[in-house]
Amino acid sequence: MALGKSARLLATVAVCGLATGASAADVEVLHWWTAGGEAAALNVLKEDLAGQSVGWEDMPVAGGGGAAATTTLKARVAAGNPPTAAQLLGMSVREWAQEGSLGDITALADEGNWADVLPPAVVDFATYDGKWVAAPVNIHRPNWLWINAAIFEENGLTPPTTWEEFNTVAAALQEKGITPLAHGGQPWQDATVFDDVVLGLGGADFYRKAIIEADLDALGSDTMLQVFDQMRTLRGYVDDNFSGRDWNLATAMVLNGEAAMQLMGDWAKGEIIRADMVPGEDILCIPAPGTAGSYLFNTDFFAFFDVTGDMKAAQDAMANSVISPEFQHAFNKVKGSIPPRTDVDISDYDACALKAKEDIAEASANDALLGSLAHGHAQTSSVQRAIFDVVTEHFNSDMSSEDAVEELVLAVESASI
Ligand code: GAL
Repeated sequence: MALGKSARLLATVAVCGLATGASAADVEVLHWWTAGGEAAALNVLKEDLAGQSVGWEDMPVAGGGGAAATTTLKARVAAGNPPTAAQLLGMSVREWAQEGSLGDITALADEGNWADVLPPAVVDFATYDGKWVAAPVNIHRPNWLWINAAIFEENGLTPPTTWEEFNTVAAALQEKGITPLAHGGQPWQDATVFDDVVLGLGGADFYRKAIIEADLDALGSDTMLQVFDQMRTLRGYVDDNFSGRDWNLATAMVLNGEAAMQLMGDWAKGEIIRADMVPGEDILCIPAPGTAGSYLFNTDFFAFFDVTGDMKAAQDAMANSVISPEFQHAFNKVKGSIPPRTDVDISDYDACALKAKEDIAEASANDALLGSLAHGHAQTSSVQRAIFDVVTEHFNSDMSSEDAVEELVLAVESASI
């Protein structure tokens, strides 16, 4: 991989104060990228660092969306043994910074002019109290609908652009004995679908009010009743074995024709590419029903814990690596996301990434670029957890929409105190 290694090695050597050929300390990195496409993307980083004589101690904690990784990270930090870096979503970067556990990489960020090449929404999550505490590696879009093109073609179906159309298409598929929706029943996956339904039925302003501002009137509104009605309808379109299924296994169902569609972020593309299928051709990507024009986003950051000496030098090398345009180009192509750096040319990416790039520009111009609740960019962890609980309880029971709305308001109210 051509990553301008000699220039970067010199930079590392300068940072480390080591003679050429000497090796820096390892970085120990806690992350949840264990699915095939995720691991392949992470390899891009491991190899890049190896080229700079920075070793990699892997600390993977399986579990999409990162809930299990968060628990492990808390235990490590509480034991006074934080990793060099941890994969974190935006709101948790903020919470860890608030705790005072993160280091300060402002000198590197200033030197590299990070603020000039990253979108303000991303800078906002990477900085705390005027200091840089984390480096962003991607921008993901959770509100995609992935469609098995062959199934749609064989059955004469058109990709649905509203929830009403989705229901019609899903009913037709079900009638033919095809599972309409591949889903994994884990709270973060239920919440990924919920985000799509809130945005698709309520629109960007409603999503902002209900989810980002946690406005109790919006949470208790008729629109929210319709959202839970639609969640109940979706429950009828998943197969019997959905409970606890990992997201990548649900993606595999769409790839191998066991199910027709999946509502999932574009990390699903990592699986599509690994299966030698073409995103945008074999597997279509369209915005989740009703969400065209809006863009939910989440960014994975590497947050840097407060370390010293050799470890700090290795940490700086890692920060410089992940922010470099060459790395961001190579990594995001495999991961399924787009680079957060605005100055990286992605004209050689797949059709879905090109659409993502176009759509994010349109959404930010229209005030419709919104942080994802399911993926840690909309709410504090306590409010997020409160909403997850209600959404998952509703999805897995026969709770009425009225009761779900009532519980949602109560749960958010008490979690916000
Ligand atoms: C997201 C994360 C992605 C992705 C996904 C599934 O929260 O931002 O990078 O891998 O979880 O694990």
